[in-house]
Amino acid sequence: MKPLHTLRAGVIGTGFIGPVHIEALKRLGVQVTAICGSTRSATACAEKWGIPEVYGDYDYQAMYRSPNVDVVHITSPNKAHVEQSLAALKAGKHVVCEKPLGMNSRETAKVAAAVAKKGSPVFAVNYMCRFFPAVLQMRAMVARGDLGQIIHVQGHFFQDWLLMQTDYNWRLLASEGGKLRAIGDIGTHWIDAVSFILGSKADRVFAHVETFHKTRLRPRGEVQTFAKIDPNTMVPYKVDTEDFGTVLLRFGKSAHGFSNGVHANASVSQVAAGWKCSLYLGIYGTKGSVQWDLQQPNEIRLGRRDEPNQVLQRGTAGFSEDVVGFTDYPGGHPEGFPDSHKMHYRAIYQHIASGGQSPKLFATADDGHHEVRLCEAVLKSSRAKKWVAV
Ligand SMILES: NC(=O)c1ccc[n+]([C@@H]2O[C@H](COP(=O)([O-])OP(=O)(O)OC[C@H]3O[C@@H](n4cnc5c(N)ncnc54)[C@H](O)[C@@H]3O)[C@@H](O)[C@H]2O)c1
Repeated sequence: MKPLHTLRAGVIGTGFIGPVHIEALKRLGVQVTAICGSTRSATACAEKWGIPEVYGDYDYQAMYRSPNVDVVHITSPNKAHVEQSLAALKAGKHVVCEKPLGMNSRETAKVAAAVAKKGSPVFAVNYMCRFFPAVLQMRAMVARGDLGQIIHVQGHFFQDWLLMQTDYNWRLLASEGGKLRAIGDIGTHWIDAVSFILGSKADRVFAHVETFHKTRLRPRGEVQTFAKIDPNTMVPYKVDTEDFGTVLLRFGKSAHGFSNGVHANASVSQVAAGWKCSLYLGIYGTKGSVQWDLQQPNEIRLGRRDEPNQVLQRGTAGFSEDVVGFTDYPGGHPEGFPDSHKMHYRAIYQHIASGGQSPKLFATADDGHHEVRLCEAVLKSSRAKKWVAV
C-alpha cells in the first residue's frame, strides 16, 4: 500500500467543518494542496494552513483541473453537494462529501448511479461517527453476539445552538439545507451510526416533526456556523424546517444473525437547552446492553441484569482488538470529535492507497442516498401520521 502522504487533497469550503477536514488530513500526513471558497476566505485559509493552490470565487471546476489533487473534500453547504460531487467524479477525483449527500433523492440517485459505474473513483459520505472507537466496539459486540439477540435501540441527538429566536444559520432555510433540518442535519448521524452498529438499514419509519419558532430573526447577509450576531441588525422570516422531532424506525435484515428487524426510537432536537452535541444511544439485547454518548466518547456503559454493570474504556482491556487500528492514544488520553474525522479519513485514504483492498467501513454514496430517502420518508410520515416504507 502506498503511504498516505503520497495522496493529495483539495478542500471545498472554509467554514466550520472545512478546517476540521484540513486539520485531520494534516494529522494523517496527507498533503492538502488546494483550497476553494470565497476569494477572501480561501486566501486566508491557505495562509493559515500553508495550502499552495487557492481557488477563489467558489471556482471548484478550476480546482478539479489541477493535476495536484487526488481527493476532493466537499464541505460546502448542502445544496452544492450533488453538483460538486458529480463534477468531481467526472474529473476522475476521489470524493469525501459532507452529509447530507444532497437536497433530495432524485439528485442523490444520480451520484449513487455515477459511483456504481465500473472503475469509478472512491466515494465516501462524511458520516464519521462510525469511526469513534466506541461505535466500532459496539458494532463488534453486536456482531459477535455479546449482547445476545438485539431487542430494541433507543436514543437522542440533542443540541441547543438554535434555541433562541435570534440564532441563525443557512440550515434553517429549506431552500439552503433541505426540507428536514434537525433530522437531516444531525438525526441522520444517529440513524447512520445505529445502522452501522446493527449491520442493517432502516426500512420503515413513523415520525413526528415540529417547529417551535414559527418565525425567527436573521441577519441581512450570510454568517458562518456558530457565529455570534448583533440582534439589532436582524429581520423576521417564516421558518420552514423543524426544530425537533421523534422517529420510530424498523431496521431490516442484518448481515449477521443477532440484529434482524430491530425497532428503534430517537428524539432529535436543536433547541434542547444544555445539550451541545449529545448523540446518545442504547442498544438492548437478551444478554445485556450498551450505552454511549458522543459527549463522553471514550466510555461505553455495559449493562447486565444479573451481574454488576461495567464501564468499558477506550485504550484498555475493555475495548477489543477489533478497534485497535482506529485509535492512536493510550487509555486515559481522551480522543474525540477531531479524532473521529481523522480515523474516518485514514480508512478512506487507506482504501484508495490499497486499490480498494482495505475494508469499506465508511458510508458510501448508496448509504448517503439512503439517508436522504429516509428523510423524505420521515417528512411523509409526519404529514400523513402513519408508517412509511423507505
Ligand atoms: N460531519 C459533521 O459532523 C459535520 C459537522 C458540521 C457540518 N457538516 C456539513 O458540512 C457542510 C458545511 O457545514 P458548515 O457548518 O461548515 O457550514 P458553514 O456555513 O460554516 O461553512 C460553509 C462554507 O462553504 C462556503 N460556500 C458557500 N457556498 C459554496 C459553494 N457553492 N461552493 C463552495 N463553498 C461554498 C461558505 O463560504 C463557507 O465557507 C454541511 O453540509 C454540513 O451538513 C458536517
